[in-house]
Amino acid sequence: MPSEGAPTSLVEAMMRKDIEKDTPPSQDFGRFSTTTFDDAIMRIMPDAALRNPACLEEYPSVGMFQERCLTILAELWNSPSAAGSFGTGTTGSSEAVMLGGLAMKRKWQLENQGNPERRPNVIIGENAHICVEKFAHYFDTEARYIPVSEGTNYSACPKNVRECIDSNTIGVFLTLGSTYTGHYDPIEEVSKMLDEYERDTGSDIPIHVDAASGGFVAPFTSTNENVVWDFRLPRVKSINASGHKYGQALLAVGWIVWREKKWIPEGLLLESSYLRGTQTAYTLSFSKSSIPVVAQYYQFHQKGLTGYCKLINRYLEIARLLSLELESTGYFSCLSGVHLPRQAQLCIESSSCRKENPAMNPGIPIVVFTLSDDAKKKYPVLDMSVLSDALHEMKFSVPHYTIKGWGKDGSDIEAMRVVVREDLTLEIMRKMMAVIVERVGNLISG
Ligand SMILES: Cc1ncc(COP(=O)(O)O)c(C=O)c1O
Repeated sequence: MPSEGAPTSLVEAMMRKDIEKDTPPSQDFGRFSTTTFDDAIMRIMPDAALRNPACLEEYPSVGMFQERCLTILAELWNSPSAAGSFGTGTTGSSEAVMLGGLAMKRKWQLENQGNPERRPNVIIGENAHICVEKFAHYFDTEARYIPVSEGTNYSACPKNVRECIDSNTIGVFLTLGSTYTGHYDPIEEVSKMLDEYERDTGSDIPIHVDAASGGFVAPFTSTNENVVWDFRLPRVKSINASGHKYGQALLAVGWIVWREKKWIPEGLLLESSYLRGTQTAYTLSFSKSSIPVVAQYYQFHQKGLTGYCKLINRYLEIARLLSLELESTGYFSCLSGVHLPRQAQLCIESSSCRKENPAMNPGIPIVVFTLSDDAKKKYPVLDMSVLSDALHEMKFSVPHYTIKGWGKDGSDIEAMRVVVREDLTLEIMRKMMAVIVERVGNLISG
């Protein structure tokens, strides 16, 4: 820290110089965070920033906005009784996943007292976000991984889940919208398998759905009627989503809803009364800004169901178009599947997944692509990291990463991911395509 303070304009200019070197957030297409907001949100922000949601007596508006957002989500996710459900606002899906996992673990522990030598385990797909693995490590629970590959449609296959569960399983984490490929786990099929397991063994294993992205995508699409993933399935006890992703709120807000309050066992809901009034909460954080919750509430009301439907379906259309354009070059093939007719994307290792449906594949609007087999054979010089760098030179961030062991015969897959959101217009999509095609041409011609 300098010994003396400096004039405001100087400090601001110094900081702006550094900030300007960043990738503009609106051109960061590797990430899910919403970056475009209307003027009204920007005007409400200063008021919201000063209000700590932990002080509900002083700022009842924030508490009310949060409760209403939770009720809207419970209804959106088909809770049998939105009034009977319970939820919490968090700093994101990561915190929400910790709370969901901890509730499942505590419930299992209470039901299995007297057996201290038994170690709880939790079922996690290899396609799960790192926060799910964090839950297992931080909360001393054995993580049992479900293998994921091209053969399982990059999702957790019920047959593989069945092989991992036992009487020490606290629950199964499933993903609605894989971070790596965008696929939905076959939640209904896993739920059916767990129903059969319960009939055979008496063990009632809950499902938590990590719908970080999909929680704000699936309800607004036509496939939501025949892809049953939410509280319509009695076995789904809790669902989380990130408001700052497809929820269209500002960073950083997440949500978790339990189908009934009873799924949060005794001892986790704590009362505090040192501030004015008594508050009961189940959260990991305490003080924070109210901006994201206020923004979430604003977006729900400003856009309404029709507005969200329009947005999400436009993103999906752009994702489909970009996928088809990439594949039409012959150089690329997409791992993500929203551009394919539904039946082409079934989990081929599980016959229970086979349902005919002429609609397009469900999934979140991301495009994950790799070099086609043909391009790899013909042009060994092609290198995806060069393409990512070329886009970066244009200040577009489209990350390149390796997906370990998900390819044919356990090979690694080199992939790039484009997250379609508000800022990815058709015009920008065409610009990005032009850069990619030009750079591929340069690599091939040496
Ligand atoms: C499936 C999934 N779960 C959890 C997370 C973590 O979300 P957050 O950044 O809101 O903590 C992500 C982030 O991309 C995700 O894709």
